[in-house]
Amino acid sequence: MYTLTYFDEFGDKCTADFKTHEYHSLMELLFDKYLEEWGDCKGRAWCGTCHIQILEGVINEKMEDEERHTLSKINGATKESRLACQIPLNARLNNVVFKIVSENQYD
Ligand code: FES
Repeated sequence: MYTLTYFDEFGDKCTADFKTHEYHSLMELLFDKYLEEWGDCKGRAWCGTCHIQILEGVINEKMEDEERHTLSKINGATKESRLACQIPLNARLNNVVFKIVSENQYD
């Protein structure tokens, strides 16, 4: 069992336990177990509702063009920004800390 930490839309610190490949992506884990108000495009990297910013740790998963394009349209996205639906759920996420960015503004 692995654990990650995130700050939710209210700034509260939360933890999520997971097993490797229990879900297809980080977005699906949090949608199913902890959050409801995101994942509008069902993981296609189109909607940006699953925007997160990494605070501690590194996510090495390569960023595809679709994710890069969607993030480029979100004001306030930083180089720490990712779309959780594009991040496979695997052991490399253990102990990563990130925040949910719920107030996205689009160009
Ligand atoms: S679920 Fe829509 S961009 Fe991730």
